[in-house]
Amino acid sequence: MKTNSLFNFWGWTLIISLCLAACHNPVRPKKPLHSPDGQLAIGFGLSSSGRPQYWVTYHDSLVVDTSGLGLVLRDSSIQLDHGFELLGTDTLDFDETWSLPWGERDHLRNHYRQYTVHLRQKSWRQDSLDIVMRAYDDGVAFRYHIPAQDSLSAFTLADEMTEFRVVGDPTCWWIPGDWDSYEHLYNQTKISEINALTKAHHPNLISSTIPYNAVATPLTMRTASGLHLSIHEAALVDYPEMTLKIDPADHGFISELVGRKDSMKADLKTPFSTPWRMIQIAPTAGGLLESGLVLNLNEPSKIDDMSWFKPQVYMGIWWEMHVNKASWDIASGKHGATTANAKRYIDFASAHNIHGLLIEGWNTGWEHWIGFPEREGVFDFVTPYPDYDLEAVVRYGREKGVELIMHHETSAAPRTYEQQLDTAYALMERLGIHNAKTGYVGPILPEGEHHGGQWMVRHYQKTVETAAKHKIALDIHEPIKDTGLRRTWPNVVSREGMRGQEFNAWSSDGGNPPSHHTIIPFTCGLAGPLDYTPGIFNIKMKPYKPDHQVNTTIAHQLALYVVIYSPVQMAADLPEFYEGQPGFQWIQDMATDWAETRVVDAVIGDYAVIARRQRGTDNWFIGAVTDENARDITIPLNFLNKSGRWQANLYLDGDSAHWNENPTDLKIEQKVFTPTDKINVHLAAGGGAAVQLFPFR
Ligand code: NOJ
Ligand code: CA
Repeated sequence: MKTNSLFNFWGWTLIISLCLAACHNPVRPKKPLHSPDGQLAIGFGLSSSGRPQYWVTYHDSLVVDTSGLGLVLRDSSIQLDHGFELLGTDTLDFDETWSLPWGERDHLRNHYRQYTVHLRQKSWRQDSLDIVMRAYDDGVAFRYHIPAQDSLSAFTLADEMTEFRVVGDPTCWWIPGDWDSYEHLYNQTKISEINALTKAHHPNLISSTIPYNAVATPLTMRTASGLHLSIHEAALVDYPEMTLKIDPADHGFISELVGRKDSMKADLKTPFSTPWRMIQIAPTAGGLLESGLVLNLNEPSKIDDMSWFKPQVYMGIWWEMHVNKASWDIASGKHGATTANAKRYIDFASAHNIHGLLIEGWNTGWEHWIGFPEREGVFDFVTPYPDYDLEAVVRYGREKGVELIMHHETSAAPRTYEQQLDTAYALMERLGIHNAKTGYVGPILPEGEHHGGQWMVRHYQKTVETAAKHKIALDIHEPIKDTGLRRTWPNVVSREGMRGQEFNAWSSDGGNPPSHHTIIPFTCGLAGPLDYTPGIFNIKMKPYKPDHQVNTTIAHQLALYVVIYSPVQMAADLPEFYEGQPGFQWIQDMATDWAETRVVDAVIGDYAVIARRQRGTDNWFIGAVTDENARDITIPLNFLNKSGRWQANLYLDGDSAHWNENPTDLKIEQKVFTPTDKINVHLAAGGGAAVQLFPFR
């Protein structure tokens, strides 16, 4: 629906603004585009040199000051970053509510006001560029659209110059803008302190071509007044991912797209829309997590029937390789993926209400994995090792109600994988396997390409679309980060995309601190589901890796199933470490598909308390985790959706629990509550609490 009065209004304000520009002032229309609830606004103007600019306000205070926009092309005679005049504008008011086939919620309202600015170069070339801006109640977004035009059909992008001049010097939770990996611990510093620290990180980045002074998105921040912001991107398709370079002049950020060998960024054809640049804004950390903005900025689903995908808890022949009990390859003599071991896991899973089993190391090629000079043509995605009877294991699993999860480690050689994609997925389809975990460990081949570059974004997209044809859901490790594409392609169900549990088994820096779990839901977790692989009970890893450990209590491990969202959640430990453990009941009862999600309380870096209601039921699951500090928390139950009495199963830190001194001290209690009650819980250092509530029967 076009709103003509708004059109006229914007037309006039922009003309006034252009006059102001002549006086060298930033152009600022008096009334920018407001969110439906009126609290947020995004404004647009042209600078005196004809550079597009925007700014953002919350409750009429500037949050992002006047920030430049623009694209730079390899052909410098084409300018898409200044010299523009305004041709016209369009507005749109939009309101819909859509259903999610699976997710943290069952439906989502997509309510926004949109403003499109049509710009034209004043030069003889008259190239045109549109900027589409949206204001939602939970954030703002904009994207570049390069319309089809005779003089500009195909071109190479040298740079994107999008600025984010965040007001003040907020606290940020950031990882370096590594072009190949998100597997870093988060730093908590002011913007002004980022530069010095990213330099220190530089030797750890995979490629030396990466700018040292950039951070990854989503980038979450808290201002001095407590407002929470997160800069991210949505609908990343056929374009490199965006990191943010620090602009030392004013502590702002400038987009730094992942590049390639020739230092260019992307090959594009018009018409082309870039991913959305989005800024989530919320008064609390919880507000960021409860927002569905990144999903709303994506296109509706292209898959009509997703009924074949079932959110689930799964087990795996996996952790035993990470702790060195077994190996992926067969040559070592302790191969994990044998028919007998697979049957052992199937028996255990089936007896404990778990219906998915990942098996890594099943296919030939692993003896040439890490450290082997040639990675192209190494992995074979259809040929099992001789001690693993794939068809027999599939049949055995089917009899016991356990479906296999296929594993495709590409060793970052995507061309080899693409050659086999159709055959590999056809094999899965024939065997009735609906889930695959893919992996991209190491620097990308060919050399000069990066996990976050356009070439790899295209590859990941190809795997998702090919998998959809075969009714296969993907859980991507070493992925391109999520940008809400699960709305359009709901068969991309989870991604690793952060420093996961695996680091506790082999990193030389002491593993993941408990505070990590209070940060990732509000940083990379805002992008989409995370396959963290929680549930390690053998915290000290004896007898396999006694020099490593998980840095939490068992109650904390249980709480992670709620705190970190994924529709596929691993029960990561070995069957023998779950056997006879009372806490394992929580994992057996665990839901993985939600009707609603509430952040009860959270301070990023300190603690997080999250409640979720299982889809189609009145069952609530609450997870609470703390950092290395013990603390007492209060959980008001006013979110419960029915009055009356509720039964609770509480999995709590025991009285002497401590992440290092006594991590397995767990106590389980049953209690009755009503929605006016508050649960008071003590969390041990590195501890947590996991609570299940259901109406009294
Ligand atoms: C890294 C993945 O994150 C991990 O889960 C997997 O086991 C190994 N690569 C081997 O593919
Ligand atoms: Ca990994």
